[in-house]
Amino acid sequence: MTSHDFLQACRGILGPEQVITAPEDMAAYLTDWRGRFTGNAAAVLRPADTQQVAAVIALCAEARVPVVPQGGNTGLVVGSVPDRTGNAVVLSLKRMNRIRAIDLVNNTITVEAGSILEEVQNAASNAERLFPLSLAAEGSCTIGGNLATNAGGTAVLRYGSMRDLCLGLEVVTADGKVWDGLRGLRKDNTGYDLRNLFIGAEGTLGIITAAVLKLFPQPRVQVTAMVGVDTPEDALRLLTMAQATCAASLTGFELMSAFSLALVTKHFPQMRTGFSEDYAQYVLLEISDSESEEHATAMLEALVEEAMEKEVLCDAIVASSIAQSRALWSLREHITLAQAAEGKHVKHDVSVPISSIGEFIGQTDALLQQAVPGCRMVTFGHLGDGNLHYNVSAPEAMADEDFILHQEAINQVVHDSTVRFGGSISAEHGLGMLKRDEIRRYKSDVELGLMMTIKKALDPHDLMNPGKVL
Ligand code: FAD
Ligand code: MLT
Ligand code: ZN
Repeated sequence: MTSHDFLQACRGILGPEQVITAPEDMAAYLTDWRGRFTGNAAAVLRPADTQQVAAVIALCAEARVPVVPQGGNTGLVVGSVPDRTGNAVVLSLKRMNRIRAIDLVNNTITVEAGSILEEVQNAASNAERLFPLSLAAEGSCTIGGNLATNAGGTAVLRYGSMRDLCLGLEVVTADGKVWDGLRGLRKDNTGYDLRNLFIGAEGTLGIITAAVLKLFPQPRVQVTAMVGVDTPEDALRLLTMAQATCAASLTGFELMSAFSLALVTKHFPQMRTGFSEDYAQYVLLEISDSESEEHATAMLEALVEEAMEKEVLCDAIVASSIAQSRALWSLREHITLAQAAEGKHVKHDVSVPISSIGEFIGQTDALLQQAVPGCRMVTFGHLGDGNLHYNVSAPEAMADEDFILHQEAINQVVHDSTVRFGGSISAEHGLGMLKRDEIRRYKSDVELGLMMTIKKALDPHDLMNPGKVL
């Protein structure tokens, strides 16, 4: 089939206006969120429903055209954009954004893959339920992308990551068949777990078109506090105390180094931490309570008081209004943007056993100072999950282009250290194109071989997001 015939057949399936080929109209689909990579594509295809996805994928299989699925294009590991050959098509799921069903007794919501996360949160909230996945890109990322990357975010501590929040999937396979696995079951032991194979596969095994997601009771009240501590070890002591005092009511526990917040207040000067003194580390805590505001505030205040008495924390701000709570979360959610505004940086998304975090930071900081003297650490993340965004910015006097020459050496220091501590080099963002080669250093031949066997079985012609993950 010629390229012309292929595109004509796509137009026949989707309608001519949903097959985008003009370079200026394709541009936004070809560069990743961080602007690290720009690829080329034969076309951007925008299906409206599952049958159109199936027909287009069957056509791609026949014509041997590679397919790059894309949702909100907010991924951080260059997974959602094509390579530079121009052979692939980008399959944008964004028109598939319907909420298909809500079952208030089963506590489930069935949504299409292109639904924006925030819209799903709102639909749940309108039905007096909670869909707990929460992350700074929630206004533009999609459920399909969240599932394909097994996204985490700030509520994993209590509710788990996307894999824990999904009960069923609808998937279009690499040969264009539809697997209807939209089962809203909490128990189902009928063979291999296909759902969990597609979740986290970053589009390399098939196209997710819809999902059944878990809903939860809405907490009656949420209370937020920000505290200053001296060391990551103190933050860990506070975590243990908070889990003992608040149990399942503890829904957020985020670490932010002083430098991370200094970047936020530098690049977003309207924002303030509200502390009269500076501390080395800050923790953002959130308590969700089903009783009352008084009960939640009393629990948080008791924790703060005990932690101060034991000299675990230096100072605390307990938000006294929803606006103040939002302002504290906003500081946390602006770190990624502030770091980008500061200039080139090397990002890491590592996890280590929670108990090792203090030692990991101490040892790895020292190794990095030997490798790139003066480099500035933007360390923040989901401490309660053992997941750090352990990012490295250039020394003050170093130009971006000189700094980026150290990228490989920095990655090696951080990832070797992570693995020495029994950790993972990608906790929640995935591998994409960015960490595809890096992962080969850390996974055994046996593990890589098993992954390759699965890939070959499900996508024998390597057409599903080629060049990503493996
Ligand atoms: P995209 O970027 O479009 O795609 C991501 C991957 O999924 C690609 O490999 C793509 O091919 C594949 N894909 C997309 N849709 C489908 C589909 N329907 N079927 C099969 N494959 C598909 N991530 C976290 O885990 N936690 C965070 O706290 C977090 N915070 C973020 C904050 C910011 C400011 C930004 C920009 C990103 C953040 N991310 C975070 C990263 C990102 O993973 C999430 O934003 C989100 O899960 C990606 O969704 P998306 O729709 O944008 O996917
Ligand atoms: C976050 O937790 O804010 C993210 O995962 C984004 C990032 O790592 O920059
Ligand atoms: Zn994160």
